[in-house]
Amino acid sequence: MTEPYTVRRASPEDAAAIIRLVDDVAAQEEWLGIDRFPLSMEQEVQFLAAAESSIYLSLVCTGEAGSVVGVLTASRGTDTRLAHVSRLALAVSPTHRRHGIGRRLLDGMEEWGRSQGVRRSTLSVLASNEAAIALFQSFGFREEGRFERQYRLQHGFVDEIWMVKWLQGEVHAGV
Ligand SMILES: CC(C)(COP(=O)(O)OP(=O)(O)OC[C@H]1O[C@@H](n2cnc3c(N)ncnc32)[C@H](O)[C@@H]1OP(=O)(O)O)[C@@H](O)C(=O)NCCC(=O)NCCS
Repeated sequence: MTEPYTVRRASPEDAAAIIRLVDDVAAQEEWLGIDRFPLSMEQEVQFLAAAESSIYLSLVCTGEAGSVVGVLTASRGTDTRLAHVSRLALAVSPTHRRHGIGRRLLDGMEEWGRSQGVRRSTLSVLASNEAAIALFQSFGFREEGRFERQYRLQHGFVDEIWMVKWLQGEVHAGV
């Protein structure tokens, strides 16, 4: 039976669980473009306490026992000319995948993005990450470009793909 999962905003009390989850997922080099969570525990606590919700979004998905099994972060541009663009990253615990958590976290990102006037939701993903690319494509993201052989993994070089979803209708020209 599927666990009763809950998606909510992260609070400073979630910092340790978020770091643990991201470090666990990042340990598999083919999934994320980072070796480990980029902030210390203190920095993450401070960040979650102070982050402006119009600029940053941190979501967690908790399972039955309240444990953090999924995390999504998104931020939008602070320069006026980039305020319509956001960038996201997400990770789901390997033992809780294919239960719709990734999709629910993206739903939460999209709701936040629309409420903040974000028009271009962007992300970067390793070209070898078929699960993530399938999720993003099914959610309406499409490839807009790639940096060839950007990542060097143990088995060789891998492209970095940039994916985009227009949240309020695609714009080709004008404002
Ligand atoms: C990518 C990731 C976030 C997906 O999370 P998830 O909770 O398992 O995804 P969902 O259950 O919401 O899947 C939604 C849809 O995405 C697609 N999908 C997800 N995982 C897939 C896989 N392994 N193979 C093929 N399609 C997949 C399917 O269309 C799926 O719908 P379905 O289950 O009804 O067929 C998860 O695998 C993960 O954390 N990977 C490591 C970190 C990562 O890659 N992050 C993204 C880089 S920014």
